[in-house]
Formats: sequence, structure tokens, C-alpha cells
Amino acid sequence: MSSSITILTGASRGIGAAIAEQLLLPDSVLLCISRHASDALAAKAAGVPMRLEQWKRDLADPVSVAEQIELWLGAFDPARCDAVTLINNAGVLARVGPLDASTNAELSVVLRVGLEAAMLLTAAFLRATLGWRAREQGHCKVLNISSGLGRRPMAASAAYCAVKAGMDHFSRAVALDEAHRGSGAKIVALAPGVIDTDMQVHLRAADSSGFPEQHVFMDLQSQGQLATPHDAAARVLAYLRRDDFGSTPVADIRE
Ligand SMILES: NC(=O)c1ccc[n+]([C@@H]2O[C@H](COP(=O)([O-])OP(=O)(O)OC[C@H]3O[C@@H](n4cnc5c(N)ncnc54)[C@H](OP(=O)(O)O)[C@@H]3O)[C@@H](O)[C@H]2O)c1
Repeated sequence: MSSSITILTGASRGIGAAIAEQLLLPDSVLLCISRHASDALAAKAAGVPMRLEQWKRDLADPVSVAEQIELWLGAFDPARCDAVTLINNAGVLARVGPLDASTNAELSVVLRVGLEAAMLLTAAFLRATLGWRAREQGHCKVLNISSGLGRRPMAASAAYCAVKAGMDHFSRAVALDEAHRGSGAKIVALAPGVIDTDMQVHLRAADSSGFPEQHVFMDLQSQGQLATPHDAAARVLAYLRRDDFGSTPVADIRE
């Protein structure tokens, strides 16, 4: 029952919910981690011969979640696992505006959920899967859902830009570590395009006085240029399944 194992954060809505739905595959194990569980996902999984677990956890407290993941992976028989994947998708926008418009607590949550949790979960995942057959065969993958805003700065989103730039650069460095020790794990930070989710609603609803580029997000929606979560998820998963996954540690789905 464990030919493929996937751990996915931020699966309760948005892109993550669509990715989770498309990972409800026979003979697979899917562990979803968000503060909320999805009843709709559970209902869909009920008709598929697979194992779905939904952990309600706050990734702003990532140390305990990373420890639990390491223990959870340790309970599997690596000989029965053909592929093992971690998708760090959960992310938060701070209050849109200049850095000092957010409280320290708000900024801390953005950094912890978007970057600290992604790094700690990646470390736990790599420790737990060391020596697994899937890893030696190149089927051990970490996919970090990044953003174009990790590569170009935008006013009113300093914390978010920093999180995504950090995600890109830690992915580059981990890729070098994995190449150096030849253990077979592959990692990519992938920008998924612009998608019609709560995050875009949050940007369009923000106070425009401190947000000079808000019109860009308004225009993308009014011109029908936002991808649906379903289509974005399909493209992300197609990227994950590419034979050359990992050859470029920082990538953009639109390239
Ligand atoms: N939408 C876009 O246009 C776009 C563009 C570029 C990159 N991205 C990236 O794509 C990823 C998904 O974005 P999205 O648009 O789907 O966002 P979203 O609709 O706001 O969903 C965010 C997900 O993250 C989870 N999450 C937030 N805070 C959490 C916490 N403290 N602990 C655990 N989980 C938490 C949420 O679950 P709970 O609320 O249940 O905890 C939810 O499942 C993010 O990394 C985002 O930066 C999005």
C-alpha cells in the first residue's frame, strides 16, 4: 500500500487543495498538513484504494511538525516504497504594505510558515529517507512552491519576497549538498505562475496607498489571466514527474 508517499503542506485550499486532489491515486499514501482539514478531500479519497492522512498543524510551530514527520516516515518499510516526495506549498502573505506596517508577530508567522517550516521539513525528510531505495533510484524529491517574487522585488511585500528568495537559495544549496554526497535526492524551487486563490483575493483587497503594483493584480484578474488552481496543480505535478526534475534547482512553470 505504499508504492508512493507524498507529504504536502498547505493542502486545505488554493493550489495545495488542487494538488492533493490530483494525488488521490491508487496504491499511494498522501499526508496533508495545514491548520484545517478538508472534508471534500476526505470524501474523494474514500473512493480510492489509497491512504490519506490530514494533520491539523500550525506550521508557525515547525520544529514539532518536522519531528513528527521524521517519526512518521520512519514507520514505513523503504523496500516497499518506489517514490517519496515532499511538497512545501504552505505560504502566507503578510499585511500588504511597507515592512513596518506589519507587527513583529505577523512578520514572524510569514517567515516561519514560508521558510523556516520548509527548511525544517526538508531536513527531516532528507534524514528520514537516507538510504531508501527510492532515493538511490532518483525518486526522492523535494518540491518547494516558490514565486516570481523571490526573484524580483515588489514593494509592499518585503517579508514574502524574502521568504521566496530564501526558499530559492536554500534549494540551490541543498541541491549542491545532495550532488556532493551522491545520495540521489532532488530538489526544485518552482514558481507556479499566478493563480486564482485566496492569496490573490488578499492582494486585490489590500490598501492600495502603500501598494503601487496593486493594479497589476487587478488587471490580471479582470483580463482573465489567472490560472485555475486545478490547471496550476496539473502543471506543477507534471513538472514534478519530469525525468529532468532537479537538473535546475530554481525554475518557473511559465518557462
Ligand atoms: N496564488 C498565487 O498566485 C501564487 C503565486 C505564486 C506563488 N504562490 C505560492 O503558492 C503556494 C500556495 O498559495 P495559494 O495561493 O494556494 O495560497 P492560499 O490559498 O492562501 O492557501 C495557503 C495554504 O497554506 C496553508 N497555511 C497557511 N498558514 C498556515 C499555517 N500557519 N500552518 C499550516 N498551514 C498554513 C493554508 O491552510 P490553513 O489555512 O488550513 O492552515 C492553505 O492550505 C504558496 O506558497 C504561495 O506563496 C501562489
